[in-house]
Amino acid sequence: MVSVFGLLLLVAVATGNIYLHNPRGSNNRLNEKTAARSNANRLFNSQNNDRGGYNVGDTAEKTHGDSEQTQYRMKYFQSGPKYKVLDEGQGRSHMTLEWTNQHGCGSGNKRQNCNIVFQYMCEETVESDKGTPSDENMLRNGDTVRTAKYVPRTRPGETEAEMSTRRTQSVRTDSAQHESWQSYDNCVTRRRNEGLFTADQTLAVDKMSGYSGATHTRQSPDGERWGYECPEERDYFPYWHPAPWRDIAVLAETDAVCGHYQKSSFNVRPYHECMEFWDVSRTRRKPYSSWNNKRDCETHGGTWEQLYSYLEKSPVYASQTACESASRDGVHYIWAVPYDTSDGSRQCLVRLDEPTCRSAPWSRSNHLGNGRFGAANNLTWVLPYFPSGKSQACVLRVRYNVTSEDYDPSRTDHRYNNEKSPVTDDPYVDVDAGGSTLKLAVDTAHFGRVFQDRTHVFILRPRPPSVGEKARIYNLNVRGKRGNIVQAFPAVEYDFFPRRLSLRPDDLVHVQWTGSNSHHNGGPRGDGQTGADGEGKAGTDRNNLVQISDLNKNFPMPFENTTMWSNVEVVWIYHGKTELTSRDLALNMASSGYFVCLKKSDCSESAEDSLPLNTKLDNTSPSYEGALLRFKKGRYHFMCTRNNNYTNRSQKGTIIVH
Ligand SMILES: *[C@@H]1O[C@H](CO)[C@@H](O)[C@H](O)[C@H]1NC(C)=O
Ligand SMILES: *[C@@H]1O[C@H](CO)[C@@H](O)[C@H](O)[C@H]1NC(C)=O
Ligand SMILES: *[C@@H]1O[C@H](CO)[C@@H](O)[C@H](O)[C@H]1NC(C)=O
Ligand SMILES: *[C@@H]1O[C@H](CO)[C@@H](O)[C@H](O)[C@H]1NC(C)=O
Ligand SMILES: *[C@@H]1O[C@H](CO)[C@@H](O)[C@H](O)[C@H]1NC(C)=O
Repeated sequence: MVSVFGLLLLVAVATGNIYLHNPRGSNNRLNEKTAARSNANRLFNSQNNDRGGYNVGDTAEKTHGDSEQTQYRMKYFQSGPKYKVLDEGQGRSHMTLEWTNQHGCGSGNKRQNCNIVFQYMCEETVESDKGTPSDENMLRNGDTVRTAKYVPRTRPGETEAEMSTRRTQSVRTDSAQHESWQSYDNCVTRRRNEGLFTADQTLAVDKMSGYSGATHTRQSPDGERWGYECPEERDYFPYWHPAPWRDIAVLAETDAVCGHYQKSSFNVRPYHECMEFWDVSRTRRKPYSSWNNKRDCETHGGTWEQLYSYLEKSPVYASQTACESASRDGVHYIWAVPYDTSDGSRQCLVRLDEPTCRSAPWSRSNHLGNGRFGAANNLTWVLPYFPSGKSQACVLRVRYNVTSEDYDPSRTDHRYNNEKSPVTDDPYVDVDAGGSTLKLAVDTAHFGRVFQDRTHVFILRPRPPSVGEKARIYNLNVRGKRGNIVQAFPAVEYDFFPRRLSLRPDDLVHVQWTGSNSHHNGGPRGDGQTGADGEGKAGTDRNNLVQISDLNKNFPMPFENTTMWSNVEVVWIYHGKTELTSRDLALNMASSGYFVCLKKSDCSESAEDSLPLNTKLDNTSPSYEGALLRFKKGRYHFMCTRNNNYTNRSQKGTIIVH
């Protein structure tokens, strides 16, 4: 009896969900061979089931995601320098984001209110350098699924040296990191916002400080830790203190609230934080403060400072005049104090734009599938342009926030806490059912609840010189992971994504894919099925691209009949050799990069001079950095020879050039 009850409880708690399918969301997985993720606290609080999520990409035939050095990072070209001022969307690079969410959302869905927020964070990177153990602040996927450590303060008035020691003891350079240790330490130290509605939840108090920090919220009252994510920041948007996330888009409850979201975005307005310093001359900023409001901050000798977010810093402009007068072509520089300042001084920052906002697309309740128009809901992100010309390591985050109208969230605050709470756990209701009461399923920690998914680290790289400023770039990728539909669920089976691209003759397509060698989907299975049915070596993802004459065909065209490879210009390709014959390009795509060209005399990885390609692509890499291609007018259909499995799975796509 006890175990049955335990099981029910587990199922009841592990519900919910938002899953990113393109780019691949991790749902906190790294490289597990199991169907269920092994560490739900690895990086962020998802509130999702343990199933779902995609492993980090691998670069080689036999690697397993257990070394940052051999993991593959998707590489997307940034927009061009003038993309904000050119007509007709010229200069833009597009990444189409696709996700599924469970509870239903959007206009016409009256069952609950909901909003979806997309954000990203980036840091400058050297693509070939994925981090050395001294890089304590670096964004990384890590080599293990273990959560980074956190060593708390042992006394309130610690010294700078004591703080550094804690930091060194905490940060595990083999664990993943998105938010920095420093930002988490700040979250622990800063008093939580006591004006918030916490229903009848009891928020734990930290023993050392005697108060609850911003790590305690209604949704996570105990102060549980998920990577270095700040729970108060996670649960609320727009957040009222600085955070490292840049807003991409808000898919709002209704259009009417978009003005509020756009004006309140940290992209375009500063937020306050209490600045305190280690030294009397106020040059070395303490990275944390316990004060969360002006009065308390100033009373205790701090400065209540407005801090700014930014796309990147521009140290080349060292004065206010140089900074502000550098603005041009839609790139705006501001002279302001960045949110992560170490000395409180102003610097030259590239300003962000307000996020896109519109009402959330409709989705059906209790369903992780298509939206209203027969495709999973999606959003096209116009990738930023970084004026420094440097590559950026980035992660993308989506949060999905479900609320009800059982109380008004905009008016219900701390005055309604505890015994005044409008909601209580699992209440009994009297509906005049012949003297019996009925019990409802309510968890006040989840009545109003945020779900989340994040990608692995990817790269936003500058456009190569061969790509003009005006070219529009569209990313063509592969979504999904190994397994049949029930085994992979709530991740999805393989398919090209976007499945259909409609282009103008001067547009560019960046074909690229990634996969894992450890999608074995074994036990523990969580609440789904184990198994990873598919072709080729167990547990491995592989892809390729060959032309078919019609979407209803499942046999590739013989090379002699293809039009894709003769009607194309290679503007950039990962191996640098753009003077390829159409045969070489076809071979490269069909072999997932295993062959670069046909003839020994033309390249080193030639079909004439290499070991044969495995018929199921087993000896290729699961990731293919790809090429930027410009197709001539026409209609091109393609498929993947390994994964397309007639009646079991369709992995096909179309490019139409008008
Ligand atoms: C979720 O919705 C509630 C109620 O509107 C709001 O207070 C909170 O800030 C939202 N959180 C996020 C992450 O959108
Ligand atoms: C994105 O959603 C729209 C509207 O549902 C749909 O028409 C379009 O095909 C979707 N795009 C992709 C790439 O799935
Ligand atoms: C595809 O078909 C083969 C039989 O040719 C089967 O063994 C395999 O499991 C199928 N793949 C999926 C994912 O269904
Ligand atoms: C290839 O093209 C030739 C010549 O047009 C045609 O006879 C043949 O049927 C085509 N083969 C296929 C498989 O489409
Ligand atoms: C589809 O997959 C099943 C196993 O999942 C397999 O038995 C069957 O042969 C496959 N069908 C085809 C046409 O490959």
